[in-house]
Amino acid sequence: MDVVEYRVKILEEAESFRKEYERNLRPLEELRPEKPFTYISVGGGELGDLVLTAAKRELGGANGGIRTVAIDRYDGFPAQDVADHYEIIDMLNGDLLEKCIRKYVPNPEEPHAIYLEIERADTLRVFKLGKEEGYNVVSTPYAPLIGMDRLSTKLLFERVGVPVVEWQYADSEEELKRVAKDMGLPLIIKPIMTSSGHGTTIAKKWEDVEKAYEYAVKHARGKGDIVVVERYLEELKERGTEITQLVLRHFDENGNIVTTLLPPVEHKRPGATYHESWLPATISEAAVRKCQEYAKRIAEYLGGLGIYAVEQFVIDDKVYNSEFANRPHDTGMVTRWALEKDEGALHLLASIGLPLSKEVTRLKIKGEYCVAHVILAPHDLPSEEVPVLGWNAGRVYAYIRRKGYRGDVWYFGKPVAYPTRRMGLAVAYHEDIEEARRIAEDIAHFAEKNIRYKT
Ligand SMILES: Nc1ncnc2c1ncn2[C@@H]1O[C@H](COP(=O)(O)OP(=O)(O)O)[C@@H](O)[C@H]1O
Ligand SMILES: [Mg+2]
Repeated sequence: MDVVEYRVKILEEAESFRKEYERNLRPLEELRPEKPFTYISVGGGELGDLVLTAAKRELGGANGGIRTVAIDRYDGFPAQDVADHYEIIDMLNGDLLEKCIRKYVPNPEEPHAIYLEIERADTLRVFKLGKEEGYNVVSTPYAPLIGMDRLSTKLLFERVGVPVVEWQYADSEEELKRVAKDMGLPLIIKPIMTSSGHGTTIAKKWEDVEKAYEYAVKHARGKGDIVVVERYLEELKERGTEITQLVLRHFDENGNIVTTLLPPVEHKRPGATYHESWLPATISEAAVRKCQEYAKRIAEYLGGLGIYAVEQFVIDDKVYNSEFANRPHDTGMVTRWALEKDEGALHLLASIGLPLSKEVTRLKIKGEYCVAHVILAPHDLPSEEVPVLGWNAGRVYAYIRRKGYRGDVWYFGKPVAYPTRRMGLAVAYHEDIEEARRIAEDIAHFAEKNIRYKT
């Protein structure tokens, strides 16, 4: 079977699995401490933290009938101290990961959910536990598998009929050159499985194409001899913008699974990683409608419960669908300050089957923008593992007050840093979007100067 046929088969399976799977899902009624619901987060960064703290904040934690388990690869990870149990393992090791899941959920009939917070885990092993043994992998076992694979993602988007940028794939250097000649420059060449721009080349000249294949394969996660080649949209940075369209799949009050569309989150990035995001988006109503309609189609094809995040490029009223993940998204952390409930709480509540009304996804800010801006470790840290000594919370809060800003910070509490590691978020509110962006950036830069590293 060739690489496309194989993926089309997975997509077909995913569709039939969804129907069967959703027929067996029931809304959650009672939570009981003597027989608690077990919620496992595979990955315990800030997005694991946001989801698991909701089990405590909103549902009373273990005494309220929901116990949480967080897994990550290093000691002191953000969700470690908020979870009832934690494990430190290499999540790419399928045997260890499976053992860990079975330790807390020996029997898949028990009430539980497994949330894959990151791609750096043995997704295939978790998929098998879901598909073959009935473990409850949020939102469905297929969604993480498809979302982490760029070729599967493109095929899914074409299947559900949502627009994508012109693309092809190549499985050798020769094939890449042929494809590039055929499409013409500029192009962007991406490994089949990566994130944060690793292994990606923006090819504006022929020399770039020549080096791109080897570079991509070297940086790919897992077995990655395929590259996806896309038309590079120069207008995107010039006059376009980027959207993360969040979608919630949840039970409604009548016991039906429904799809609720959140307000689109807008974000801008100088490079390939998350930099700043805000609500509400400044795009046209026509563009909002498209973003929402496309994201809905994608989420409904895969189904199940919980958050879906669809990354989209918007140029004027034209919307291109780029990637999706079936989990909360880093750009969506701004929901913590701008929506009735943050994306972590929405994901948790929906994915355990709690019936929710659409109101929980509403904007809670009125007549102003809310911007979140990353707080990063310095780019010139001397090594990949620099201990963090502390941060001066008092000075940061005093600065916000002194400047007369309406703002906030979220410090993640990571014990070690590497150059440009994400350490926290700064937040600002203002009626004027440019002013809100400026203030959030100013708070972020001030906070950056107030984290102490052992260098
Ligand atoms: N075809 C494209 N044209 C223009 N910019 C792009 C294109 N593809 C990606 N980008 C830019 O690179 C960023 C990262 O690309 P993405 O495909 O989301 O990869 P990653 O998995 O690394 O996040 C995007 O958010 C966007 O800013
Ligand atoms: Mg992306």
